[in-house]
Amino acid sequence: MDRIRIVGGRTLEGTISISGAKNAALPLMIASLLTNETLTLENTPRVADVGMLLQILSHHGVDYSVDGRKPGDDPQASRTLHLAARQIVDITAPYDLVAKMRASFWVVAPLLARMGEARVSLPGGCAIGTRPVDLLLMVLEKLGAQVAIEAGYVHARAKNGLQGGEIHFPKVTVGGTHTALMAASLAKGHTLITNAACEPEVADVAACLIKMGAKIKGAGQPTIEIEGVGALRGANHSVVPDRIEAGTYAIAVAMTGGDVLLERAPPDLFQSALDAICQAGADVAVTNQGIRVRRNGAGIAPVDISTAPFPGFPTDLQAQFMALMTKAKGRSRITETIFENRFMHVQELARLGARIKLDGDVAHVEGVAELQGAPVMATDLRASVSLVIAALAARGETMVNRVYHLDRGFEHLEKKLGRCGAIVERISGNG
Ligand code: EPZ
Repeated sequence: MDRIRIVGGRTLEGTISISGAKNAALPLMIASLLTNETLTLENTPRVADVGMLLQILSHHGVDYSVDGRKPGDDPQASRTLHLAARQIVDITAPYDLVAKMRASFWVVAPLLARMGEARVSLPGGCAIGTRPVDLLLMVLEKLGAQVAIEAGYVHARAKNGLQGGEIHFPKVTVGGTHTALMAASLAKGHTLITNAACEPEVADVAACLIKMGAKIKGAGQPTIEIEGVGALRGANHSVVPDRIEAGTYAIAVAMTGGDVLLERAPPDLFQSALDAICQAGADVAVTNQGIRVRRNGAGIAPVDISTAPFPGFPTDLQAQFMALMTKAKGRSRITETIFENRFMHVQELARLGARIKLDGDVAHVEGVAELQGAPVMATDLRASVSLVIAALAARGETMVNRVYHLDRGFEHLEKKLGRCGAIVERISGNG
């Protein structure tokens, strides 16, 4: 199993190009099941989750190809995928595939909408909480499907097709909103969604569905209206830049000090995180190439944050921001409101010398003058990258184990950081 070795203490200087968003690429790839024509997705990140989803989709009958690199192309650049579900060959998503990647549960909506039936394994719990799918099933029922749970599988049927309906989410859910968008696009009649997720990845999926012929109004806002159509067609879409990757590197620069241009980073997509990074003492400038983040001289100021659905502070940046606060001059409070168990990084940050006390959904962080390198590991990708951020500012060597978590969601992490002066290397399995 690969590990990443980091020797802390260097500032970051240079340019990091921001990849396409993993959390938009995955539902966009799943949307290819809605049509028998080709969906082309540009700017798809080279991360392990994308590779795994390609395998899962091919199980359902999706043929895919990946564009080769042309002379002169940046070897780090994201890639273009062509996905064609001319024929759905299997409406069942088996346990061993869904267990590998939770988001693959979302195939239930396009399979049901296009084929009138889907059998998808329940995903079960994961490292950041219990993560139920009750609201996704509610969506399918509101659109006229019969849903039964049989031997660990969700069996959804709508033999005469889905019907438009009214869907009110009691809690904001990204996956629930993706499910509603995909299913309602092929349902008969009108669907009204209220308290929808406003995350940029939801708006990106809706933008692609509209190119495919869907009639959607209001995506990116809490109220969405959809007029179902009989069939969707192929389209060409470029995946929105990854606000979580951009936020992660912005926090890394705030942690180490230095001056980095985050190329193609979209400031309006993570303004709340940028505000917190500024309050912590970094300078943030928006240029026409992206966002420039700088910190020099003065130390890190403590900042309280609380995670919330978009446009609030993203849960997917909570662990990284906590890493930054471990070196702040004073105390900060970090409140996690989205997932009940997303503090698995606390114990590992403590191994680097951080002082953090947990009290329910609040972490109290007492900044320390110095962190010290140590061997660490984490149980999910955002927690893993928070350890990388802490390691970049720690004295001595940190070995981050279980690097496959990082590979699931960060494209060329060690190369991007290495080009900015960090001492970071991947040590392969037997190394
Ligand atoms: C998406 O997960 C992201 N995953 C997560 O990114 C992200 O943390 C999360 O949205 C919140 O922004 C992908 O896009 C692939 P939710 P999702 O449904 O859709 C509860 C990462 O690190 N809920 O918005 O699964 C749920 O338990 C990850 O990249 C129900 O109660 O999240 C949570 O408390 C991890 N019932 C809240 O809603 C349901 O049926 C929000 O979850 C569904 C969700």
